[in-house]
Amino acid sequence: MNPLFTALKVKSFEIKNRVVMPPVVSFGWADENGYVDDRHVKHYEERAAGGAGMIIVEATCVKKDGRIVNSQPGIWSDSHIEGLSKITSACLAHGPMLLLQIHHSGLVTSPAIADKAVGPTADPANSRTHTLSREEIHHLQDAFIKAAKRAKQAGFHGVELHGAHGFLLNQFATHIINKREDEFGQTLQGRLKFASGIIEGIRESLGEDFIIGYRLGSNSPTLADGIEVAKYLEKTGVDILHASHGGSTGVIPAVPENFAYNGIVYSGAQIKKHVNIPVIVVNEIKTPERASYLIEHQMADFVAIARDMLTDPQWVKKAMNNEPIDYCIQCKPKCKRYESPDLCPVHKG
Ligand SMILES: Cc1cc2nc3c(=O)[nH]c(=O)nc-3n(C[C@H](O)[C@H](O)[C@H](O)COP(=O)(O)O)c2cc1C
Ligand code: SF4
Repeated sequence: MNPLFTALKVKSFEIKNRVVMPPVVSFGWADENGYVDDRHVKHYEERAAGGAGMIIVEATCVKKDGRIVNSQPGIWSDSHIEGLSKITSACLAHGPMLLLQIHHSGLVTSPAIADKAVGPTADPANSRTHTLSREEIHHLQDAFIKAAKRAKQAGFHGVELHGAHGFLLNQFATHIINKREDEFGQTLQGRLKFASGIIEGIRESLGEDFIIGYRLGSNSPTLADGIEVAKYLEKTGVDILHASHGGSTGVIPAVPENFAYNGIVYSGAQIKKHVNIPVIVVNEIKTPERASYLIEHQMADFVAIARDMLTDPQWVKKAMNNEPIDYCIQCKPKCKRYESPDLCPVHKG
């Protein structure tokens, strides 16, 4: 049996295989109030029907003024539950674990979204940025906890906190940005107090069986820091770690000569050695062969396939049947889906 297609239990949920569709914003689809539509439902249903063991629905913002763009889905109000429920209803029949990634851009919130961009410490080079007061921090933690409650009401098995790619949770976690001198800074424990307060709040309100995932910047600012963050998150009660990068807050480590994957996968595989909770690794894994190798050699518990599952929603089923996959052609200078899924030359939508 190919290890990629073996089940793994997380809490009370048996995940049918090790392949994850990671979060990918469908830029241009949600309306300016953050409502998803039928295109989102079809998009996720196709990947669920294609056999993904876990689907993490795209970065969904917990505050209207914390979005990346004004077409990003939102979960800052109860009125978002109905649309998100349509996604879960369409997918659940196919049996994946369904998580919703919850997100806030923090200091990198664009001027088109909000005049002020907030974070742990204002950026001296950017006059738009503002250091959060304690009261504002508690308010934002509450926004994440409320978002998780809405995700549960919408039928998700859990949430993934977006703590990677230089966004708000990542900004708090890294000493490169977080220069606070109060209890939300100074030490690893202090820098992760923003996250741990959210995690504890979600656990308290939604119980043990609700899955809490965390996507971390595993190189933020170094892999050694990422490992310490991962160990601390495990202690705070995170159920699944998803090892991505820290965007501009870190440098991707070089890989040993005989390592056949990139520095982001390498970081994830190193983190896996230091924790006991399941770890998802990601980035340019691409093929079933490369994915299986990582599971077989215990370098990861799950592999996430983003662009190649966008270009081929049937990636998992085809991998199981040894059928040819329609691979992503890695558009340059960057993926056209940053503008719209409809521009992808291989698979629209
Ligand atoms: C258009 C686009 C949107 C993305 N949106 C998100 C997102 O919402 N949240 C997130 O954590 N990562 C996001 N990512 C990163 C992917 O989840 C993934 O980590 C990245 O594409 C590398 O994996 P791959 O090489 O398998 O494509 C996005 C990537 C792309 C191309
Ligand atoms: S737009 Fe290009 S890079 Fe993006 S998924 Fe499609 S083929 Fe791949």
